Amino acid sequence: MNEILTEGAVQVPNPYPIEIDLKFPEVWKLCQQARELAWDPAADIDWEGLRSADIDPAARAAGGEFWSLRAWMEHGAVPYGCIRLSEAVFLHLPFEIKQHITNFISEELRHHEASFRIAEALDAYQPTPEADYFRFIIPKFHDEKVEKSMPFFAGMCVNTLFEHLSGALLKSRHENARYPAIKEACRLILRDEARHIQFGRIIMREHFHEVSDEDKQRLGEKFANKLRGSLLNGVYAIVNLPLEDRERAGRARALAADAGLGATHPDQEIAIIAGAVREIRDEVAPFGVEIPIIPEIEGA
Ligand SMILES: [Fe+2]
Ligand SMILES: [Fe+2]
Repeated sequence: MNEILTEGAVQVPNPYPIEIDLKFPEVWKLCQQARELAWDPAADIDWEGLRSADIDPAARAAGGEFWSLRAWMEHGAVPYGCIRLSEAVFLHLPFEIKQHITNFISEELRHHEASFRIAEALDAYQPTPEADYFRFIIPKFHDEKVEKSMPFFAGMCVNTLFEHLSGALLKSRHENARYPAIKEACRLILRDEARHIQFGRIIMREHFHEVSDEDKQRLGEKFANKLRGSLLNGVYAIVNLPLEDRERAGRARALAADAGLGATHPDQEIAIIAGAVREIRDEVAPFGVEIPIIPEIEGA
């Protein structure tokens, strides 16, 4: 066998007992909904209409870049989900948790697919970011060292808080989209994300009484650090980019948003993120999790 594949390979531990009792009926309900509401980005969306629509070429190029970014972001959830799935298996977590994470992976992969199909139908999908800051920022978006420093469910909860945030941005993209293919893709992605957010609410309710006060404090800090360190650097918003990059990225986003290509206008990003952070703060506060003020979006 290929040495690269076997080197450092983890031995699969004894899997027994493989339990099938449901411990989280609400999570199982989400799994059943995921089966009923499955969709196919290739077949369920009319891509031809978008390809042939009368759209200015410069706006098409800006839209291609914007949706490539969306595709890279969605792809980031796939390796993250794979590691969580492997942990869930090795930790002998209940069946419905393993099923939910498996669904999460395939759903994020179809969000990735829908996003690169939009980029392709508009202009071209970019497999590697052209801008330096994206090449630098996207790989840093998720840090396993940070994830591993938190208890399993607390880490998953931080992730779902970001889903809440990206859901808020997605809603504005859905409103901005003037072309049926983009609007429909946003609607279907949002429907999946609503289940991911709901999963976070369930695990918070079920698990947070076990999380120590110290871990809860770290959880709020990690949320703020990730938001400030990567998501405001051109991913969710451009506010923390160096001036030159900020101007270039801002112009491209404004062009795509003005053409109704499902982009978020740079002038609106901060208000949307600030509003979502307020909602998230209110949602986690009853569990004793405090999210520090984010000066870039909320002021000092
Ligand atoms: Fe997603
Ligand atoms: Fe998601």
